[in-house]
Amino acid sequence: MRAWLMDSYDGIERLRLGEVPDPEPGPAQVLLRMRCAALNPADAFLARRMYPAKPALPHILGRDGVGDVVSIGAGVNHIRAGETVGILRCDVGVDVWGTLAEKVVVPAESVTRIPPNWSLEEMAGAPLVFLTAWQALTQWKDPPAPPLAGSVLLVTGASGGVGVASVLLGKSMDLTVLALSRSAEKRARLKMLGADFAFDPTDGNLIKTVTGAISPKRVDLAVDSVGGALLPQMVALLGHGGRISVVGRSGGSVPEFNSATLLFRRIRMGGVSVGDCTIQAAHAAWKEIVDRLEVIGQRPQVDTIVPFEDVKMGFARLAQGPMGKVLVRVAD
Ligand SMILES: NC(=O)c1ccc[n+]([C@@H]2O[C@H](COP(=O)([O-])OP(=O)(O)OC[C@H]3O[C@@H](n4cnc5c(N)ncnc54)[C@H](OP(=O)(O)O)[C@@H]3O)[C@@H](O)[C@H]2O)c1
Repeated sequence: MRAWLMDSYDGIERLRLGEVPDPEPGPAQVLLRMRCAALNPADAFLARRMYPAKPALPHILGRDGVGDVVSIGAGVNHIRAGETVGILRCDVGVDVWGTLAEKVVVPAESVTRIPPNWSLEEMAGAPLVFLTAWQALTQWKDPPAPPLAGSVLLVTGASGGVGVASVLLGKSMDLTVLALSRSAEKRARLKMLGADFAFDPTDGNLIKTVTGAISPKRVDLAVDSVGGALLPQMVALLGHGGRISVVGRSGGSVPEFNSATLLFRRIRMGGVSVGDCTIQAAHAAWKEIVDRLEVIGQRPQVDTIVPFEDVKMGFARLAQGPMGKVLVRVAD
């Protein structure tokens, strides 16, 4: 089969389209012929040794995707050859060969059918980012998960995969959603997706602008995939007992952070790791996610679909800051 091979830890620029033998499904596994794969920033981090997993080389990146079941291993009863399924959560693309290939072996327990009325493309990029957003929104147990209706949710990097998912799930929980994006065009799109307010994170008066818009309320929960210089500003915007779910750090290091700002409002920060999600928890959360999107009449957002040969262009688009997911068409 053809696959994008990672021969070294020198970054995605060094990926090479090559030939490797077709993988075979073992017990409790299925072999998928990939139709559509999704790109994630974690792929680029892994390719530069900036990720916990250090798989053997050559490796094949790619966590999410949709494919047709070609064959099934021993003991698989709930999936049949010929079905088209999506990949929910597993080590594919992390410790074992991933979806940037014509075929991939996946644990049978990690595949799920495409929700009714969703396109193959909407499914292909949704699981990782929606499960991450779900964990970010529901990991806090006081007030009980999901957060109480009427709470104020701030989402940084709101145009990205996790950001869009957080905005949509936040709306499904009746939260007041504040979306941050550096692009005016994407801010307009985020409002069309349901964000109550959209702000420019580079606004020198961000704290004043946001406070003025939501007063007398303050931010209850921030889902943050940017960090960097935004983090102290987020802390300033939180009310008493406010929380930050830390998803990523696209914005780099945090400058001059005064930890005393956490004290009197009892601000809490908590890391998010989608890799910690068990397959049982992933299936339960996925059902909630699909049901909630149905109720609010929304779907995962696709930014771009690049041909299989143009994976590097896809990664370039991801680095620019997409509006939703960047996908790769592996086969029609
Ligand atoms: N902890 C976990 O389990 C987990 C799971 C998934 C992802 N992540 C991490 O979360 C982050 C976001 O993932 P994603 O899939 O949403 O990425 P994405 O689709 O690339 O979107 C990230 C968004 O953040 C904004 N952004 C990017 N670079 C920025 C910068 N330097 N300063 C300010 N804003 C910036 C961009 O929005 P604008 O251009 O609109 O401003 C962009 O659309 C990544 O670091 C990823 O590795 C972590």
